[in-house]
Amino acid sequence: MSLQKEILTPKYPHLLHGGDYNPEQWLDKPEILKRDIELMKKAKINCVSLGIFAWSKLEPSKDDFHLDWMEEIINNLYSAGIYVDLATPSGARPRWIAKENCEVLRVDERGKRAHFGGRHNHCMSSPYYRDRVAKIDMVLAKRFSDHPGVIMWHISNEFEGECHCDLCQQAFRRYLRDKYTTIGNLNRAWWTTFWSHDYSGFEEIESPKDSGENTVNGLTLDWKRFVTNQTVDFMNNEINTVKKYAPNIPVTTNMMGLSDVLCYPRLAQKLDFVSWDSYPNWHEPGQNTYEGALTSFTHDYMRCLKNRPFILMESTTSTVNWRPVCKIKKPGMHRLSMLDAIGHGSQSAMYFQIRQSLGGPEKFHSAVISHLDSDDTRVFKEVASLGEELESVSDIIYGTYNYSEVAIIYDKESKWALDGSSGPRNESLDYDRTCVSFYEYFWQHGINVDVIDSSASLDEYKLVIAPMLYMYHNGIEERIRKFVQRGGYVVSTAFSGYVNETDLCFSGNDADRKLSDVFGICIEEIDALYDEESNLTTFEGKEYPLHTLCEIVKCVDAKALSVYEKDFYKGFPVITVNKYGDGTAYHIASYSDQGLYDALFNRICDEAGIYGVLGNTRIPPGIGIVSRRDKNRIIVFAGNYTDERQIMHLCRNSVSPGRKAIYYINGDIAECDMYFDPFEMKMIMVK
Ligand code: GAL
Repeated sequence: MSLQKEILTPKYPHLLHGGDYNPEQWLDKPEILKRDIELMKKAKINCVSLGIFAWSKLEPSKDDFHLDWMEEIINNLYSAGIYVDLATPSGARPRWIAKENCEVLRVDERGKRAHFGGRHNHCMSSPYYRDRVAKIDMVLAKRFSDHPGVIMWHISNEFEGECHCDLCQQAFRRYLRDKYTTIGNLNRAWWTTFWSHDYSGFEEIESPKDSGENTVNGLTLDWKRFVTNQTVDFMNNEINTVKKYAPNIPVTTNMMGLSDVLCYPRLAQKLDFVSWDSYPNWHEPGQNTYEGALTSFTHDYMRCLKNRPFILMESTTSTVNWRPVCKIKKPGMHRLSMLDAIGHGSQSAMYFQIRQSLGGPEKFHSAVISHLDSDDTRVFKEVASLGEELESVSDIIYGTYNYSEVAIIYDKESKWALDGSSGPRNESLDYDRTCVSFYEYFWQHGINVDVIDSSASLDEYKLVIAPMLYMYHNGIEERIRKFVQRGGYVVSTAFSGYVNETDLCFSGNDADRKLSDVFGICIEEIDALYDEESNLTTFEGKEYPLHTLCEIVKCVDAKALSVYEKDFYKGFPVITVNKYGDGTAYHIASYSDQGLYDALFNRICDEAGIYGVLGNTRIPPGIGIVSRRDKNRIIVFAGNYTDERQIMHLCRNSVSPGRKAIYYINGDIAECDMYFDPFEMKMIMVK
């Protein structure tokens, strides 16, 4: 990790506060556009995303470009000190494009072409759509790239989805031919002789479908990879176009966190930085702490895609409109969730949307400026007060980085394969929840975590956890082996390392690829438990329940630290530890609750010399902690996700080794008893 200030937007290197702004809906009402700027200034907004869905107003008919209105808006914003994240409008096309060439409309897996409607639903392969997009992108880039107010490109919007048209089928076959060279290789990699599904040529291959080929796991996986590939290719065309005219303006696209539709590490490669849209389900009864951990985990995943700070591109000022039950944010939650994003590496707090639309499907989605058009609302005031706070701490926080000695591997392709696998448990193998349950220990102990793809380097870490990493690919097994050899700690869990990159099981001859020697165990069977069943294990004198999956493991070189206490496999190991090279490999053969993970990670962190940023301060449950730093100081973000007041007894001499005193971010020494109101975030500095 470089110790240099991480500057994402050189034209305006500050924390950004703002969001999606859709003035195209009010072009006939100049008084509203004037009022927008007035209210944005009051809310301390310094950046807006412009033009995301404005194509029909930018090019109302073919090659008839109307950019003056946009220029006027950019000028007015700039004069008011508001910068622009300029979008390419490819996320929603105007009607005339579909009328001119229906090739742009997606075909579903039954072969049915969609009618015009909605958004985010174009065919990524269509040469016609790519041409139209390149044209509008070029026109925008030529006109606006030199504008001092345009600080970044927002490429399209939330790329997602697949198309099964002939163009996509042909492109898929080309992709497979490049990958496997011969049909024989493909048949072997996909194990197609099972049920006599061998292909005799690439031309026979079709995308997977419920009504057709849906049992060849390799096909399903490669199709998902192909869909990512086509999307990346489409996106790169857009990036190349804007970069040609605006080489110095950074590009990003807004991702959707843990969404399964695309493999984001591939998308991230060509972006200057990652941005994402965060919509946690706050205030579902009893769920806030989990939601806090899940959101923090997702921020960490987004940051690690490029190993640098990111932009929180969208979030709510209060509520969404699209959940079964749309809760508003309770007082405090807005500040907490925005500062938490910043703690995890965001250089912004941005919202969907600045002004609430009067019509359309999102008219009840919250905004900075609501239908009341007033600055005297609870939501407006909370937004404005956050804006003011961000302005006051921007110089301290901007450009600092997150330093982590612990990594959790979160691998999208492995998840795809896991979800597609039949057995051992076909319901509730919730990969995301499993990964977050391992994350929670660190989040609640003030230990930063990198959430990394399996292709990432492990060199910088002391501890790597690979929960339920069903598929070993991307050379991860070799990197884990080397990591442990040179002294690292690794933890793997049940149902990890079972298959290769095309979802073929490792056999007895693949001991190396399964890392049998690193973990020093042989996994013989795996039992699945009904929700109402459980097993039991005792670790360091305390009993813990076990659920979901129970592997029956034999120790070869490893030592058992705890065993099953029920069923016929009573006495077989649950937690094993093995010394390998200079390092240590733990395996947990089942799943448990937080209690067991806390006990195990207390032990491992002790052994590995991993300390929480607040040392041995006892952190009350429901407080999530993360920190950013630079050469001189650490900024700690501690947030209370519960709706109860919490007290943290903080002693100045209990901070991590080498660190001396704790201050509030505004300079005073922090008192020893810290009171957290419900949903309160405190920013603390450790020097
Ligand atoms: C996002 C999308 C926005 C808006 C928002 C509503 O997924 O990018 O355009 O629809 O959801 O929550």
